[in-house]
Amino acid sequence: MTSRVIAIDGPAGSGKSTTASAVAALLGLPHVESGALYRALTLAALDAGTAFVGQRLVALAHSLPVRLDLTDAGFRPEVAGTDVSEPIRSERVTARVSELSAIAEVREWVNEELRAAVERHPRGAVLDGRDIGTVVFPDAALKIFLVARPEERARRRLLQDGREATPEAIEHEVAELERRDHLDSTRAVAPLTQAADAVPLDTSDLTFEDQVEAIVSRARKAFS
Ligand code: CDP
Repeated sequence: MTSRVIAIDGPAGSGKSTTASAVAALLGLPHVESGALYRALTLAALDAGTAFVGQRLVALAHSLPVRLDLTDAGFRPEVAGTDVSEPIRSERVTARVSELSAIAEVREWVNEELRAAVERHPRGAVLDGRDIGTVVFPDAALKIFLVARPEERARRRLLQDGREATPEAIEHEVAELERRDHLDSTRAVAPLTQAADAVPLDTSDLTFEDQVEAIVSRARKAFS
């Protein structure tokens, strides 16, 4: 059976998370952000001084635990019961997360968490990440691959973080996004790539409402 999953993948700063959140709210489904698990484990490992070694990281994830609490309003990333929504977006986490996400054991742990979350929600779920449509849910009902021009992604990321989008700041942010895209696209395990049956959506010149609507209307058809 085709899994009632909507997979939204794409590069850093393409707007996956905000888009997935709005799509999920309109469809009345939970939103599961896979990047939040990679980020939460990165934060936990940095705070605990744990080396970036697969087995140690997975043991840390289980013992604390590192998890996503799914609520009607969205998801809450937790480390040892504490809400880490804010610290997982910090620069020190962003700088190291792609290194951690290249580790096969870490990816297996995340994928198990994601599949368990979807099993608990038989009506379906909206998941976003890099490999949801290619690896985690290859039978997803709908796969979207979000892209946008690097300058536009940088501008949105700066505004999201409440920073000013000066030409210098945009240039710096483009370099940071491209550094992460390169790491994510060239890693050996589950690299960032568009699934053959994914719908590509370039959001550079779309309004947020239009891009959400484009996905919601396809989802309604896929689920009908
Ligand atoms: O910054 P942005 O919101 O675009 O990234 P994110 O979705 O929070 O993901 C942070 C990092 O986690 C990515 O740069 C990837 O290294 C990794 N990731 C992954 O490898 N696979 C996923 N399904 C999701 C995230």
